[in-house]
Amino acid sequence: MEKKNLDWANLDFSYKKTDKRFVSNFRNGAWDEGKLTEDDTVTISECAGVLQYSQSCFEGLKAYTTEDGRIVAFRPDMNAKRMENSAKRLEMPTFPPERFIDAVVRTVKANAGYVPPFGSGATLYVRPYMFASGPVIGVAPSDEYQFRIFSTPVGPYFKGGARPLTLCVSDFDRAAPNGTGHIKAGLNYAMSLHAIVTAHKNGFNENMYLDAATHTKVEETGGANIIFVTKDNKIVTPKSGSILPSITRLSLLEIARDYLGLEVEEREVYFEEVKDFAECGLCGTAAVISPVGKIVDHGKEICMPSGMQNMGPITKKLYDTLTGIQMGRVEGPKGWIKVI
Ligand code: PLP
Ligand code: COI
Repeated sequence: MEKKNLDWANLDFSYKKTDKRFVSNFRNGAWDEGKLTEDDTVTISECAGVLQYSQSCFEGLKAYTTEDGRIVAFRPDMNAKRMENSAKRLEMPTFPPERFIDAVVRTVKANAGYVPPFGSGATLYVRPYMFASGPVIGVAPSDEYQFRIFSTPVGPYFKGGARPLTLCVSDFDRAAPNGTGHIKAGLNYAMSLHAIVTAHKNGFNENMYLDAATHTKVEETGGANIIFVTKDNKIVTPKSGSILPSITRLSLLEIARDYLGLEVEEREVYFEEVKDFAECGLCGTAAVISPVGKIVDHGKEICMPSGMQNMGPITKKLYDTLTGIQMGRVEGPKGWIKVI
């Protein structure tokens, strides 16, 4: 398919309508076969569960053009599994993982002209999501759901590309112990809007959330997990039941261990320790791995030794290897790359 005529190098992270999207409906206890459609609008009951009680979840993954011109997606099986977990926790029906992967492939294929060319720095962001489409007025799960996937070409999530970010330690909590922080529920993001708008107003790029119970341990940001590098080049990342299990982070930990020969620790990370780390990065599908230069806690600044100009050396190696695998320059572990 011929590439669309877009200014690939200058895309930002915003929604741009593409040609086709996938839609499947759940009614009478079963998913229909689903189809691709040109209709980018959704018509649902005014009393739909998603509108009244926010019964919805979503996923995010990317498709890339490799150097030899293939289109590939990164670990869609992991997104399929995570969406199953999200759906179960929200009392929604699960969308079968093999059908999820097939729907991703069909959506990307149908929009192949929007997958940014190799080397452009842009990617096709793929957004699977599910919501309660049937009416509910008493607080209860809906009987009807819609699963959809759209795709949109995107550039960097953080403006300024790879320039180090400044985080603010938030007084707001993102997720409670035993709550929904570990699933990708739309409601987690609604909850974070006031905190992110406040952070932006105060000149910060993102919030660093601490654990809700004690406010002593690092959790994650509104849209990405956090990775630290120690002064002796060990990777340290928070272990918590209330953060989203990031597929990017899981992949980076494997890369650190198996490609870069680094030691990796997934454990509780106390905020007190942060001042002693050498590098910090935010990782996620949208964020890839974005370097953090400064963390501000109620006016007290922690400046990472890697500085405000460049990615730290270990962060850079992680970034190069991950994007190398995603763009087909580096051979990835088995099963990471799904050819479309
Ligand atoms: N944490 C949160 C809250 C997110 O929204 C995301 C984005 O998906 C991530 C972490 C990163 O997850 P992944 O690497 O699977 O995209
Ligand atoms: C992603 O990285 O895919 C996300 O869903 C994060 C979101 C904040 C854009």
